[in-house]
Amino acid sequence: MRILVTGGNGQLGSEWISYLNRQEVEFIALPSSDFDLTDHADTRRVMGNLKPDLLINCAAYTKVDQAEEEPEKAFAVNSEGVKNLANYCASHNIKLVHFSTDYVFPGTEEDHQKYPKGYSEDHPTNPINTYGESKLAGEQAVRESGCEFIIMRVAWLCGKHGSNFVKTMLKMGKEREEVSVVNDQFGCPSFAHNVVYNCWKLVVEHKLGTYHLCSEGKISWHEFAKEIFEQMEIPVNLKPVSSSEFPAKAKRPAFSLLNTQKISNIPGVTIIDWKEGLTNLLAELRS
Ligand SMILES: NC(=O)c1ccc[n+]([C@@H]2O[C@H](COP(=O)([O-])OP(=O)(O)OC[C@H]3O[C@@H](n4cnc5c(N)ncnc54)[C@H](OP(=O)(O)O)[C@@H]3O)[C@@H](O)[C@H]2O)c1
Repeated sequence: MRILVTGGNGQLGSEWISYLNRQEVEFIALPSSDFDLTDHADTRRVMGNLKPDLLINCAAYTKVDQAEEEPEKAFAVNSEGVKNLANYCASHNIKLVHFSTDYVFPGTEEDHQKYPKGYSEDHPTNPINTYGESKLAGEQAVRESGCEFIIMRVAWLCGKHGSNFVKTMLKMGKEREEVSVVNDQFGCPSFAHNVVYNCWKLVVEHKLGTYHLCSEGKISWHEFAKEIFEQMEIPVNLKPVSSSEFPAKAKRPAFSLLNTQKISNIPGVTIIDWKEGLTNLLAELRS
């Protein structure tokens, strides 16, 4: 099997590179400079040369706040770029693994009360910001293309590579005496290592369709930060604040929990407790 990974310099793309290096597979990972999703002719040319059997698309426009100011850029990558890939996959019999987000859902406080175990895969989508809209449009393009696909929705992604909440907290905890973190947005992190591990299980088990993956549990960002500082023994003053004290250009969902029932039925899939996932990630970061 020949595999092409896009977004090879990103958080998830880098995790795939580490993982696939330990498997008996032939793969190539390309950064945005060599495979720009917005250049449709060039990406089709590259795919034509490489002839992959599996395309793992980790490339995405992920600047949530900036997307409000440049929606055309977010859609060019997350929607039109993805549509071009998916259509090529459909016409060349390439399986597509694509990543999406909890931001396709409205994430209301009402849903938090109604769906305590999180959003399931078939829950109606209704994004509240431009990034979420662009990612939803990408999902729809994948489904409409007719290609064989896995769409993996993840939330609060944290891994060893790239930037994420855990790394931001570690940096802030070292630089500041006090750190403020919102305590009214709830969800559960998807750890990049676990995402790649489980996604590979779907590939080898020939599973297709849309799946949700995050860790076991439900926490606020504040609880997440508290555990990071406790596990790392960083003596910072952690202050709980409400989202209204943190004005941002893009609206954030109050509820981001994904229900993992469907994926947990697949043989070999492992859903880890969020504290365990954090312990593993901190160990990786220490090494
Ligand atoms: N991060 C999260 O918390 C989170 C949560 C839910 C879902 N997700 C989804 O998970 C997936 C992986 O996210 P991530 O955290 O790994 O994102 P990331 O670290 O921002 O990586 C995204 C990668 O996409 C590349 N890229 C941007 N524009 C591109 C273009 N026009 N053509 C080709 N590549 C382009 C970037 O390249 P450069 O480095 O050159 O800019 C970067 O390497 C995405 O689909 C994202 O929507 C992420």
